[in-house]
Amino acid sequence: MPNGQDQAATVPLPSSSVKPVTATAAGTVVANGQTHHQRQHHLWLVTGPAGSGKTTVAEHLATALQLPYIEGDLYHPKANIDKMSAGIPLTDSDRWDWLTELRKQSNSRIHDGAEGVVVACSALKLKYRDVIRVAAYWDRTLVIHFIFLYAPAELILERVAARKGHYMGANMVKSQFDILERPREDEVDVITVDASGDVEDVKEDALEKVRALLAAEG
Ligand SMILES: Nc1ncnc2c1ncn2[C@@H]1O[C@H](COP(=O)(O)OP(=O)(O)OP(=O)(O)O)[C@@H](O)[C@H]1O
Ligand SMILES: [Mg+2]
Repeated sequence: MPNGQDQAATVPLPSSSVKPVTATAAGTVVANGQTHHQRQHHLWLVTGPAGSGKTTVAEHLATALQLPYIEGDLYHPKANIDKMSAGIPLTDSDRWDWLTELRKQSNSRIHDGAEGVVVACSALKLKYRDVIRVAAYWDRTLVIHFIFLYAPAELILERVAARKGHYMGANMVKSQFDILERPREDEVDVITVDASGDVEDVKEDALEKVRALLAAEG
């Protein structure tokens, strides 16, 4: 004799019951048995360790694509900035509120009518990138791309040493390389850009890759 739970599981739903709204591919929503195509929006996250060129590349993309730009550094709580200024690396728990705030800011730009958003954010670990990926849960039209800037630590240290008036020092570069989790092969939303070349070449390479993706997505 099946228990009550098993019986309930076999009772067919009435044919008139409202079918759930489900999301399939980005931009496609199935509601009450009908498929609706929605315009896609893109979230371009320019990522990489301190000094890898995120701000430089993100500003270029935002200007070229005419999209709003979110500078991740500006959304750190004061306690994080104080820590970084003192050369103390942030812990995972220091980063959760910052990452969720960046995600919220990104969603709200799209909600307010932007076609897409460019964000500069180090996103050093898989779990940090996963926090950002949740943005697509809140907005099924959102397609997320990480543009990962990579150059050897020695080269980045040289660049940062020449940069003035920024709280990220050489120690931060080292500590960020220590915890960096380079994107895995199965993180298919990541494009890697070689950031070791001339600054203009790196900017153009990133923009070309973005344009190629936009063209492929139609
Ligand atoms: N391809 C490049 N070649 C030479 N210098 C570069 C290149 N890209 C960026 N720079 C310089 O390196 C320094 C770091 O670049 P940028 O500030 O864009 O990096 P970032 O990743 O935003 O750093 P942070 O994480 O500290 O905010 C700047 O002085 C910038 O002008
Ligand atoms: Mg920066």
